[in-house]
Amino acid sequence: MISKAMKDRESLGDTPPEIFRKQLHALADWIADFRENIETLPVAPDEKPGAIRARLPAQPPEEGEPFERILSDVDRLIVPGMVHWSHPMFLGYFGWTMTASGILGEILSAPLNVNAMTWRTCPAATELETVVIDWLRQWLGLPGEFDGVVYDTASVGIMHALAAAREEAARSTRKLGLTNRELPRFRIYTSDEAHSAAEKAAITLGIGEENVRRVPSDSDFRMDLNELRKAITRDVRDNVKPLAVIATVGTTSTASVDLIPAIAKICREQRMWLHIDGAYGGAFAMLPEYKWVSRGWDMADSIVINPHKTLFVPLDFSVLYVRDLERLRRVFTLVPEVLRGDTIEGEKNYMDYGIQLGRRFRALKAWVIWRLLGRAGILARLREQIRLANLLAGWIKSDNCFELAAPVSMGVVCFRFVRAHKDQIDPFNSEIVERINASGRAYLTQTKLCGRTVMRIGFGNVLTTEEHLRKAWEIIQETASKL
Ligand SMILES: Cc1ncc(COP(=O)(O)O)c(C=O)c1O
Repeated sequence: MISKAMKDRESLGDTPPEIFRKQLHALADWIADFRENIETLPVAPDEKPGAIRARLPAQPPEEGEPFERILSDVDRLIVPGMVHWSHPMFLGYFGWTMTASGILGEILSAPLNVNAMTWRTCPAATELETVVIDWLRQWLGLPGEFDGVVYDTASVGIMHALAAAREEAARSTRKLGLTNRELPRFRIYTSDEAHSAAEKAAITLGIGEENVRRVPSDSDFRMDLNELRKAITRDVRDNVKPLAVIATVGTTSTASVDLIPAIAKICREQRMWLHIDGAYGGAFAMLPEYKWVSRGWDMADSIVINPHKTLFVPLDFSVLYVRDLERLRRVFTLVPEVLRGDTIEGEKNYMDYGIQLGRRFRALKAWVIWRLLGRAGILARLREQIRLANLLAGWIKSDNCFELAAPVSMGVVCFRFVRAHKDQIDPFNSEIVERINASGRAYLTQTKLCGRTVMRIGFGNVLTTEEHLRKAWEIIQETASKL
């Protein structure tokens, strides 16, 4: 007979292998069913804030529960309360990168669960990270002097890039900080279409949100170079130090592309750091017909690319490239005593390239998905997104109730319903998006361009076909006609 003490001891370990195997099989079936049937789910719930929480137990569990019950609660409580970014009718933001192959990569990294802080704490994780970063560099055609590091998001990448820029403009800031040093006021320039990650970085680095100068953009939503020059001249005259320009390849609203070669020239003249935010659009440089988006990159100091937006790697996976990566290491290398033994080799220790110490094995999922798709598979899918975007633009142009609100770039289309009194056009466009999103039939985004509300569709989801797009367009027309 097994004594109680023995039973208790057994329960302290892990799930027995034969049970674990069964649970895994059940989970595999759950994932395959979810993926196969995702189209039958509403894209988004129509819930009031707090409704989901009200259905969940407020008290933490006292005793352990069976996995089967937890999985069935996912079906019952979690899945219905979700916006399904992987749904083929999800057309918000930049579409979504989920694929069956990406799920495999994500699953594979779960049992390995290492901490890739130093080379020695997991040589394979470190070396694979270096390899996939270099694969992507080759695909993008970036010169060999660029090397990178994987972070969770582009916002974090931009912050690290600007930390390196700040260190070069104000030596020893990592040691001494910014106060009581008679440093000038620093300024960062970016367009009024650029991402708010610029301000977040300035807040974090003690540069200050107000020192991000939003330069007006031109009629194609690109940074106006005359305005940039004027802003710099004004600042220099006022003893403000121009620190960096953040130029964007693929802005969040319209996927416009700043004129990088001219901006790079201004940065050289003013000895400013040039950061390129290619979070969404940078990856399109892989396409020969989009090579032009990477003009001037060789003159940049840093570039951020989000494979979790465009290159089918599941969230989160963002790469920051820096020309001469040592410039970044100089700012962040710091070896606590407890890690000294694990940092003796001259190999790369990724903890030295940012504020994060513990690091997931993110490279594995990129390696899996990029091998499963290959460059050819990636290019074919990017081209399909561009084809769908142009198809939709054609439909919009041929319907006089609507107009295109920006040139179509990459996989993004901005457009506007215009059959209303001019005071009503903005609220009507907002209303169309709200009603569609609340219906759970499709999901769009709204944004403002030149102060006007527009609807926006972003492609990226591999499940979205021409048929889905046609259905979405019909829903938009039908919703607009009911206003
Ligand atoms: C152009 C651009 N830059 C930066 C970001 C921020 O990306 P992340 O969510 O990875 O921080 C976004 C997000 O949409 C973006 O569109």
